[in-house]
Amino acid sequence: MDAPTFNKEFFIGRRKALIDSLPQNSTIFVVSADQLPRNGDQTYPYRQNSDLFYLTGIEQEQTILALCPNHPKEKFREVLFIRRSSKELEKWVGHKLTIDEARQISGIETVMWYDQFEDNLSELMFYSDNVFVVTNENMGYRRFYNDSDYRFIERIKFLYPLHNYRRLATYLINLRLRKQLEEIEVIKYAISLTARAFERVLNFVRPGVKEYEVEAEIIHEFYRHGVRNVAYQSIIASGKNACILHYIKNNSICEDGQLLLMDFGAEYLNYAADLTRTIPVNGKFTQRQLDVYQAVLDVQQQMIKQHIKPGVTIDFLNQKSKELMAERLVELKLLPKKILHESTDTIIKEVNKYYPHGLSHFLGLDVHDVGTKNIALEPGMIITVEPGIYIDEEDLGVRLENDVLITENGNLDLMSQIPLKPEEIEQKMRG
Ligand code: GLY
Ligand code: MN
Ligand code: MN
Repeated sequence: MDAPTFNKEFFIGRRKALIDSLPQNSTIFVVSADQLPRNGDQTYPYRQNSDLFYLTGIEQEQTILALCPNHPKEKFREVLFIRRSSKELEKWVGHKLTIDEARQISGIETVMWYDQFEDNLSELMFYSDNVFVVTNENMGYRRFYNDSDYRFIERIKFLYPLHNYRRLATYLINLRLRKQLEEIEVIKYAISLTARAFERVLNFVRPGVKEYEVEAEIIHEFYRHGVRNVAYQSIIASGKNACILHYIKNNSICEDGQLLLMDFGAEYLNYAADLTRTIPVNGKFTQRQLDVYQAVLDVQQQMIKQHIKPGVTIDFLNQKSKELMAERLVELKLLPKKILHESTDTIIKEVNKYYPHGLSHFLGLDVHDVGTKNIALEPGMIITVEPGIYIDEEDLGVRLENDVLITENGNLDLMSQIPLKPEEIEQKMRG
Protein backbone atom coordinates (compact mmCIF):
# COMPACT_ATOMS: atom_id res chain seq x y z
CA MET A 1 0.00 0.00 0.00
CA ASP A 2 1.40 3.43 -0.94
CA ALA A 3 1.69 5.94 1.86
CA PRO A 4 -1.29 8.32 1.66
CA THR A 5 -1.01 11.99 2.58
CA PHE A 6 -3.48 14.73 3.45
CA ASN A 7 -3.80 17.65 1.10
CA LYS A 8 -4.96 21.11 2.08
CA GLU A 9 -8.48 20.46 0.76
CA PHE A 10 -8.97 17.98 3.59
CA PHE A 11 -8.23 20.61 6.25
CA ILE A 12 -10.25 23.28 4.41
CA GLY A 13 -13.17 20.84 4.42
CA ARG A 14 -12.82 20.07 8.13
CA ARG A 15 -12.84 23.79 9.04
CA LYS A 16 -15.88 24.39 6.87
CA ALA A 17 -17.72 21.48 8.47
CA LEU A 18 -16.87 22.84 11.92
CA ILE A 19 -17.99 26.37 11.12
CA ASP A 20 -21.23 25.12 9.55
CA SER A 21 -22.05 23.31 12.77
CA LEU A 22 -21.47 26.34 15.06
CA PRO A 23 -23.83 29.21 15.85
CA GLN A 24 -23.39 32.43 13.86
CA ASN A 25 -21.26 35.11 15.40
CA SER A 26 -18.59 32.79 16.74
CA THR A 27 -14.85 33.02 17.00
CA ILE A 28 -12.86 29.83 17.42
CA PHE A 29 -9.37 29.36 18.80
CA VAL A 30 -7.33 26.17 18.84
CA VAL A 31 -3.77 26.17 20.16
CA SER A 32 -0.87 23.77 19.70
CA ALA A 33 0.39 21.30 22.28
CA ASP A 34 3.31 22.29 24.48
CA GLN A 35 6.78 21.20 23.59
CA LEU A 36 7.57 19.54 26.91
CA PRO A 37 11.05 19.96 28.43
CA ARG A 38 12.82 16.78 29.55
CA ASN A 39 16.04 18.09 31.06
CA GLY A 40 18.87 20.45 30.06
CA ASP A 41 18.38 21.42 26.41
CA GLN A 42 16.26 18.32 25.85
CA THR A 43 12.57 17.96 25.03
CA TYR A 44 10.16 15.03 24.79
CA PRO A 45 9.27 14.05 21.23
CA TYR A 46 6.71 16.55 19.98
CA ARG A 47 3.15 15.45 19.28
CA GLN A 48 0.68 18.01 17.97
CA ASN A 49 -2.65 18.62 19.69
CA SER A 50 -5.04 16.30 17.83
CA ASP A 51 -7.70 19.01 17.30
CA LEU A 52 -5.23 21.48 15.86
CA PHE A 53 -3.81 18.87 13.50
CA TYR A 54 -7.34 17.92 12.45
CA LEU A 55 -8.13 21.50 11.45
CA THR A 56 -4.78 22.61 9.99
CA GLY A 57 -2.32 19.76 9.34
CA ILE A 58 0.35 21.78 11.15
CA GLU A 59 2.67 19.62 13.26
CA GLN A 60 4.77 22.42 14.73
CA GLU A 61 4.78 23.93 18.24
CA GLN A 62 3.71 27.54 18.91
CA THR A 63 0.79 27.51 16.51
CA ILE A 64 -2.65 29.10 16.97
CA LEU A 65 -5.64 28.74 14.68
CA ALA A 66 -8.24 31.55 14.78
CA LEU A 67 -11.49 31.31 12.84
CA CYS A 68 -13.86 34.28 12.64
CA PRO A 69 -16.23 33.31 9.85
CA ASN A 70 -18.38 36.45 10.15
CA HIS A 71 -15.54 38.94 10.19
CA PRO A 72 -16.21 41.87 7.83
CA LYS A 73 -12.63 41.75 6.56
CA GLU A 74 -12.04 38.56 4.66
CA LYS A 75 -8.43 38.24 5.71
CA PHE A 76 -9.45 37.77 9.36
CA ARG A 77 -11.92 34.96 8.71
CA GLU A 78 -9.16 32.38 8.97
CA VAL A 79 -5.83 33.20 10.54
CA LEU A 80 -2.98 30.89 11.37
CA PHE A 81 -0.18 32.01 13.69
CA ILE A 82 3.07 30.05 13.45
CA ARG A 83 6.38 30.16 15.24
CA ARG A 84 8.71 32.86 13.92
CA SER A 85 11.91 31.28 12.77
CA SER A 86 15.41 32.75 12.77
CA LYS A 87 18.86 31.78 11.56
CA GLU A 88 19.86 31.18 15.18
CA LEU A 89 16.90 28.85 15.87
CA GLU A 90 17.41 26.95 12.64
CA LYS A 91 21.10 26.54 13.42
CA TRP A 92 20.11 24.49 16.47
CA VAL A 93 16.88 22.74 15.58
CA GLY A 94 16.65 22.91 11.81
CA HIS A 95 13.98 24.16 9.48
CA LYS A 96 10.74 25.70 10.73
CA LEU A 97 7.74 26.35 8.52
CA THR A 98 7.74 29.44 6.39
CA ILE A 99 4.56 31.48 5.98
CA ASP A 100 4.12 30.04 2.53
CA GLU A 101 4.68 26.44 3.62
CA ALA A 102 2.09 26.83 6.37
CA ARG A 103 -0.33 28.19 3.76
CA GLN A 104 0.28 25.21 1.50
CA ILE A 105 -0.27 22.67 4.26
CA SER A 106 -3.36 24.23 5.82
CA GLY A 107 -5.03 26.07 2.96
CA ILE A 108 -5.19 29.19 5.18
CA GLU A 109 -4.26 32.37 3.32
CA THR A 110 -3.60 34.65 6.29
CA VAL A 111 -0.58 33.33 8.12
CA MET A 112 1.17 35.49 10.73
CA TRP A 113 3.81 34.93 13.37
CA TYR A 114 2.89 33.59 16.78
CA ASP A 115 4.33 36.68 18.46
CA GLN A 116 1.86 38.84 16.52
CA PHE A 117 -1.15 37.11 18.05
CA GLU A 118 -2.03 39.57 20.78
CA ASP A 119 -1.53 42.55 18.44
CA ASN A 120 -4.28 41.12 16.25
CA LEU A 121 -6.52 39.84 18.98
CA SER A 122 -8.91 42.79 19.12
CA GLU A 123 -9.69 42.27 15.43
CA LEU A 124 -10.45 38.66 16.16
CA MET A 125 -12.60 39.32 19.21
CA PHE A 126 -14.49 42.45 18.25
CA TYR A 127 -17.13 41.02 15.94
CA SER A 128 -18.13 37.95 17.92
CA ASP A 129 -20.06 37.30 21.11
CA ASN A 130 -19.28 33.61 21.35
CA VAL A 131 -15.72 32.47 21.71
CA PHE A 132 -15.22 28.74 21.28
CA VAL A 133 -12.14 27.30 22.92
CA VAL A 134 -11.02 23.78 23.41
CA THR A 135 -9.58 21.69 26.20
CA ASN A 136 -8.70 18.03 25.86
CA GLU A 137 -12.09 16.47 26.67
CA ASN A 138 -10.97 12.94 26.10
CA MET A 139 -12.58 10.91 28.93
CA GLY A 140 -9.28 9.22 29.73
CA TYR A 141 -7.18 12.40 29.84
CA ARG A 142 -6.07 13.53 33.29
CA ARG A 143 -4.81 17.09 33.41
CA PHE A 144 -1.92 17.45 35.83
CA TYR A 145 -0.44 20.81 34.86
CA ASN A 146 -1.63 24.04 33.30
CA ASP A 147 -1.11 23.03 29.71
CA SER A 148 -1.27 25.25 26.64
CA ASP A 149 -5.09 25.01 26.34
CA TYR A 150 -5.54 26.15 29.91
CA ARG A 151 -3.01 28.96 29.78
CA PHE A 152 -4.58 30.23 26.58
CA ILE A 153 -8.07 30.26 28.08
CA GLU A 154 -6.87 32.02 31.23
CA ARG A 155 -5.10 34.67 29.20
CA ILE A 156 -7.90 35.39 26.77
CA LYS A 157 -10.49 35.56 29.55
CA PHE A 158 -8.26 38.01 31.36
CA LEU A 159 -7.98 40.20 28.25
CA TYR A 160 -11.66 39.88 27.20
CA PRO A 161 -13.71 38.99 30.26
CA LEU A 162 -17.13 39.86 28.80
CA HIS A 163 -17.39 37.43 25.89
CA ASN A 164 -19.34 34.18 26.15
CA TYR A 165 -16.78 31.40 26.38
CA ARG A 166 -18.03 28.07 25.12
CA ARG A 167 -16.85 24.50 24.65
CA LEU A 168 -15.69 23.67 21.17
CA ALA A 169 -15.11 20.03 22.10
CA THR A 170 -18.70 18.89 21.66
CA TYR A 171 -18.71 20.14 18.05
CA LEU A 172 -15.24 18.86 17.24
CA ILE A 173 -15.88 15.46 18.77
CA ASN A 174 -18.91 15.07 16.51
CA LEU A 175 -16.75 15.66 13.47
CA ARG A 176 -13.75 13.64 14.59
CA LEU A 177 -15.94 10.62 15.32
CA ARG A 178 -17.07 10.26 11.70
CA LYS A 179 -14.02 9.62 9.59
CA GLN A 180 -13.59 11.05 6.12
CA LEU A 181 -12.25 8.82 3.34
CA GLU A 182 -8.81 10.43 3.66
CA GLU A 183 -8.66 9.59 7.35
CA ILE A 184 -9.71 5.99 6.69
CA GLU A 185 -6.91 5.65 4.14
CA VAL A 186 -4.40 7.01 6.64
CA ILE A 187 -5.58 4.62 9.36
CA LYS A 188 -5.47 1.74 6.88
CA TYR A 189 -1.86 2.62 6.17
CA ALA A 190 -1.02 2.68 9.90
CA ILE A 191 -2.70 -0.74 10.09
CA SER A 192 -0.71 -2.06 7.11
CA LEU A 193 2.57 -1.18 8.84
CA THR A 194 1.31 -2.73 12.05
CA ALA A 195 0.46 -5.89 10.09
CA ARG A 196 3.95 -6.01 8.58
CA ALA A 197 5.46 -5.71 12.03
CA PHE A 198 3.31 -8.60 13.26
CA GLU A 199 4.33 -10.83 10.33
CA ARG A 200 7.94 -10.04 11.15
CA VAL A 201 7.44 -10.93 14.79
CA LEU A 202 5.91 -14.29 13.83
CA ASN A 203 9.24 -15.15 12.21
CA PHE A 204 11.25 -13.85 15.12
CA VAL A 205 9.69 -15.13 18.33
CA ARG A 206 11.14 -18.30 19.86
CA PRO A 207 12.00 -19.40 23.41
CA GLY A 208 14.75 -17.25 24.91
CA VAL A 209 14.06 -13.95 23.12
CA LYS A 210 13.48 -10.92 25.34
CA GLU A 211 10.24 -9.00 25.22
CA TYR A 212 12.17 -5.84 24.35
CA GLU A 213 13.78 -7.61 21.40
CA VAL A 214 10.30 -8.29 20.08
CA GLU A 215 9.45 -4.63 20.63
CA ALA A 216 12.61 -3.66 18.74
CA GLU A 217 11.53 -5.77 15.74
CA ILE A 218 8.21 -3.95 15.67
CA ILE A 219 9.75 -0.52 15.92
CA HIS A 220 12.37 -1.36 13.33
CA GLU A 221 9.62 -2.27 10.88
CA PHE A 222 7.88 1.06 11.51
CA TYR A 223 11.12 3.03 11.16
CA ARG A 224 12.00 1.21 7.93
CA HIS A 225 8.90 2.85 6.51
CA GLY A 226 9.73 6.28 7.85
CA VAL A 227 7.21 6.05 10.70
CA ARG A 228 8.90 6.95 13.96
CA ASN A 229 5.89 7.18 16.24
CA VAL A 230 3.96 4.45 17.94
CA ALA A 231 0.31 5.15 18.70
CA TYR A 232 0.94 4.13 22.33
CA GLN A 233 3.64 2.31 24.25
CA SER A 234 3.80 -1.28 23.04
CA ILE A 235 2.68 -4.02 25.41
CA ILE A 236 4.90 -7.07 24.90
CA ALA A 237 3.87 -9.43 27.64
CA SER A 238 4.94 -13.06 28.00
CA GLY A 239 3.43 -15.56 30.43
CA LYS A 240 2.01 -13.97 33.55
CA ASN A 241 2.88 -10.47 32.34
CA ALA A 242 -0.07 -10.75 29.97
CA CYS A 243 -2.36 -10.53 33.00
CA ILE A 244 -1.12 -6.98 33.64
CA LEU A 245 -3.37 -5.01 31.34
CA HIS A 246 -1.04 -2.10 30.67
CA TYR A 247 2.27 -3.97 31.04
CA ILE A 248 4.98 -1.90 29.33
CA LYS A 249 8.17 -2.98 31.10
CA ASN A 250 8.81 -5.47 28.29
CA ASN A 251 11.95 -6.79 29.97
CA SER A 252 11.25 -10.49 30.61
CA ILE A 253 12.49 -13.52 28.70
CA CYS A 254 9.88 -15.29 26.57
CA GLU A 255 9.94 -18.87 27.84
CA ASP A 256 9.13 -22.16 26.15
CA GLY A 257 5.48 -23.07 26.73
CA GLN A 258 4.30 -19.51 27.43
CA LEU A 259 1.97 -17.33 25.45
CA LEU A 260 3.11 -13.89 24.31
CA LEU A 261 0.52 -11.09 24.21
CA MET A 262 1.48 -8.15 22.00
CA ASP A 263 -0.58 -4.95 21.83
CA PHE A 264 0.96 -2.36 19.52
CA GLY A 265 0.21 0.03 16.68
CA ALA A 266 1.91 2.45 14.35
CA GLU A 267 0.96 6.12 14.37
CA TYR A 268 0.94 7.55 10.87
CA LEU A 269 0.20 11.24 10.24
CA ASN A 270 -0.98 11.32 13.85
CA TYR A 271 -3.59 8.57 13.30
CA ALA A 272 -3.45 5.34 15.27
CA ALA A 273 -3.63 1.63 14.57
CA ASP A 274 -4.38 -0.58 17.58
CA LEU A 275 -3.68 -4.30 17.27
CA THR A 276 -3.44 -7.13 19.77
CA ARG A 277 -2.34 -10.65 18.98
CA THR A 278 -1.39 -13.50 21.30
CA ILE A 279 0.96 -16.22 20.09
CA PRO A 280 2.69 -19.29 21.55
CA VAL A 281 6.36 -18.55 22.21
CA ASN A 282 7.44 -21.96 20.85
CA GLY A 283 5.07 -21.86 17.89
CA LYS A 284 2.54 -24.41 19.17
CA PHE A 285 -0.43 -23.79 21.48
CA THR A 286 -1.07 -26.25 24.31
CA GLN A 287 -4.64 -27.58 24.49
CA ARG A 288 -5.49 -25.28 27.41
CA GLN A 289 -4.01 -22.25 25.66
CA LEU A 290 -5.94 -23.16 22.55
CA ASP A 291 -9.22 -23.46 24.46
CA VAL A 292 -8.78 -20.04 26.06
CA TYR A 293 -7.66 -18.54 22.74
CA GLN A 294 -10.65 -20.02 20.92
CA ALA A 295 -13.04 -18.59 23.53
CA VAL A 296 -11.66 -15.08 23.04
CA LEU A 297 -11.63 -15.48 19.27
CA ASP A 298 -15.22 -16.70 19.19
CA VAL A 299 -16.46 -13.76 21.26
CA GLN A 300 -14.54 -11.31 19.09
CA GLN A 301 -15.79 -12.81 15.83
CA GLN A 302 -19.36 -13.11 17.06
CA MET A 303 -19.31 -9.45 18.05
CA ILE A 304 -17.91 -8.41 14.66
CA LYS A 305 -20.19 -10.64 12.60
CA GLN A 306 -23.45 -10.14 14.47
CA HIS A 307 -23.53 -7.13 16.72
CA ILE A 308 -21.36 -4.23 15.55
CA LYS A 309 -23.48 -2.03 13.31
CA PRO A 310 -25.01 1.43 13.14
CA GLY A 311 -27.36 2.34 15.98
CA VAL A 312 -25.76 0.40 18.82
CA THR A 313 -23.54 1.92 21.49
CA ILE A 314 -20.16 0.77 22.78
CA ASP A 315 -21.83 0.32 26.19
CA PHE A 316 -24.29 -2.11 24.62
CA LEU A 317 -21.54 -3.99 22.78
CA ASN A 318 -19.51 -4.22 25.92
CA GLN A 319 -22.40 -5.74 27.86
CA LYS A 320 -23.18 -8.15 25.01
CA SER A 321 -19.57 -9.31 24.91
CA LYS A 322 -19.61 -9.95 28.65
CA GLU A 323 -22.73 -12.10 28.28
CA LEU A 324 -21.12 -14.10 25.47
CA MET A 325 -17.93 -14.42 27.47
CA ALA A 326 -19.85 -15.74 30.49
CA GLU A 327 -20.82 -18.85 28.48
CA ARG A 328 -17.24 -19.38 27.38
CA LEU A 329 -15.90 -18.96 30.91
CA VAL A 330 -18.33 -21.64 32.07
CA GLU A 331 -17.04 -23.99 29.34
CA LEU A 332 -13.49 -23.26 30.47
CA LYS A 333 -14.58 -24.18 34.02
CA LEU A 334 -13.60 -20.77 35.28
CA LEU A 335 -17.17 -19.87 36.29
CA PRO A 336 -19.94 -22.18 37.60
CA LYS A 337 -22.79 -22.96 35.21
CA LYS A 338 -25.41 -21.48 37.55
CA ILE A 339 -24.01 -18.04 36.91
CA LEU A 340 -25.77 -17.98 33.55
CA HIS A 341 -29.14 -17.75 35.32
CA GLU A 342 -28.15 -14.73 37.39
CA SER A 343 -28.95 -11.08 36.66
CA THR A 344 -26.96 -9.24 34.01
CA ASP A 345 -25.24 -7.21 36.73
CA THR A 346 -24.09 -10.35 38.52
CA ILE A 347 -22.94 -11.98 35.27
CA ILE A 348 -20.88 -8.90 34.40
CA LYS A 349 -19.38 -8.78 37.87
CA GLU A 350 -18.30 -12.42 37.62
CA VAL A 351 -17.03 -12.11 34.05
CA ASN A 352 -15.00 -9.07 35.05
CA LYS A 353 -12.83 -11.35 37.23
CA TYR A 354 -11.34 -12.72 34.00
CA TYR A 355 -12.23 -10.02 31.44
CA PRO A 356 -11.99 -6.77 33.40
CA HIS A 357 -11.85 -4.18 30.61
CA GLY A 358 -14.25 -2.96 27.96
CA LEU A 359 -14.71 -4.45 24.50
CA SER A 360 -14.21 -1.32 22.44
CA HIS A 361 -13.10 2.27 22.20
CA PHE A 362 -13.16 4.75 19.36
CA LEU A 363 -9.99 4.98 17.30
CA GLY A 364 -8.64 7.92 15.32
CA LEU A 365 -6.16 10.68 16.03
CA ASP A 366 -6.02 9.45 19.61
CA VAL A 367 -5.71 5.72 20.15
CA HIS A 368 -8.47 6.02 22.75
CA ASP A 369 -10.24 8.52 20.59
CA VAL A 370 -12.80 11.11 21.56
CA GLY A 371 -16.43 10.08 22.01
CA THR A 372 -18.33 8.59 24.90
CA LYS A 373 -19.52 5.01 25.09
CA ASN A 374 -23.21 5.89 24.93
CA ILE A 375 -23.01 7.34 21.40
CA ALA A 376 -24.98 5.40 18.78
CA LEU A 377 -22.53 4.12 16.17
CA GLU A 378 -22.74 5.57 12.68
CA PRO A 379 -21.08 4.77 9.37
CA GLY A 380 -17.58 6.24 9.29
CA MET A 381 -16.80 5.62 12.95
CA ILE A 382 -13.92 3.30 13.77
CA ILE A 383 -13.82 1.23 16.93
CA THR A 384 -11.63 -1.54 18.34
CA VAL A 385 -12.95 -4.99 19.23
CA GLU A 386 -10.74 -6.43 21.94
CA PRO A 387 -12.07 -9.09 24.27
CA GLY A 388 -9.64 -10.91 26.52
CA ILE A 389 -9.31 -13.58 29.21
CA TYR A 390 -6.67 -13.24 31.91
CA ILE A 391 -6.17 -16.11 34.36
CA ASP A 392 -3.75 -15.08 37.11
CA GLU A 393 -3.66 -18.60 38.63
CA GLU A 394 -2.48 -20.06 35.32
CA ASP A 395 -0.10 -17.22 34.31
CA LEU A 396 -2.11 -17.02 31.11
CA GLY A 397 -3.57 -14.04 29.27
CA VAL A 398 -5.14 -13.81 25.83
CA ARG A 399 -6.41 -10.66 24.13
CA LEU A 400 -7.27 -10.28 20.47
CA GLU A 401 -7.90 -6.84 19.05
CA ASN A 402 -9.05 -5.74 15.61
CA ASP A 403 -10.06 -2.29 14.37
CA VAL A 404 -13.38 -2.09 12.51
CA LEU A 405 -15.03 0.61 10.41
CA ILE A 406 -18.77 1.04 10.89
CA THR A 407 -20.57 0.82 7.51
CA GLU A 408 -24.18 1.28 6.38
CA ASN A 409 -24.89 -2.43 6.82
CA GLY A 410 -22.63 -3.39 9.67
CA ASN A 411 -18.89 -3.10 9.76
CA LEU A 412 -15.72 -3.71 7.82
CA ASP A 413 -12.88 -5.42 9.67
CA LEU A 414 -9.82 -3.36 8.78
CA MET A 415 -7.57 -6.07 10.24
CA SER A 416 -9.12 -9.10 8.56
CA GLN A 417 -5.85 -9.74 6.67
CA ILE A 418 -3.75 -10.01 9.82
CA PRO A 419 -3.24 -13.64 10.94
CA LEU A 420 -5.67 -14.50 13.72
CA LYS A 421 -6.76 -18.13 13.50
CA PRO A 422 -4.57 -20.33 15.72
CA GLU A 423 -3.73 -22.72 12.83
CA GLU A 424 -2.57 -19.80 10.74
CA ILE A 425 -0.41 -18.43 13.53
CA GLU A 426 1.19 -21.84 14.11
CA GLN A 427 1.77 -22.36 10.40
CA LYS A 428 3.40 -18.93 9.98
CA MET A 429 5.61 -19.52 12.99
CA ARG A 430 6.74 -22.86 11.51
CA GLY A 431 7.53 -21.14 8.21
N1 GLY B 1 -3.45 -0.42 23.51
C1 GLY B 1 -4.47 0.18 24.19
C2 GLY B 1 -5.73 -0.47 23.93
O1 GLY B 1 -5.79 -1.50 23.29
O2 GLY B 1 -6.76 0.03 24.25
MN1 MN C 1 -4.50 -2.19 21.90
MN1 MN D 1 -7.48 -0.79 22.07
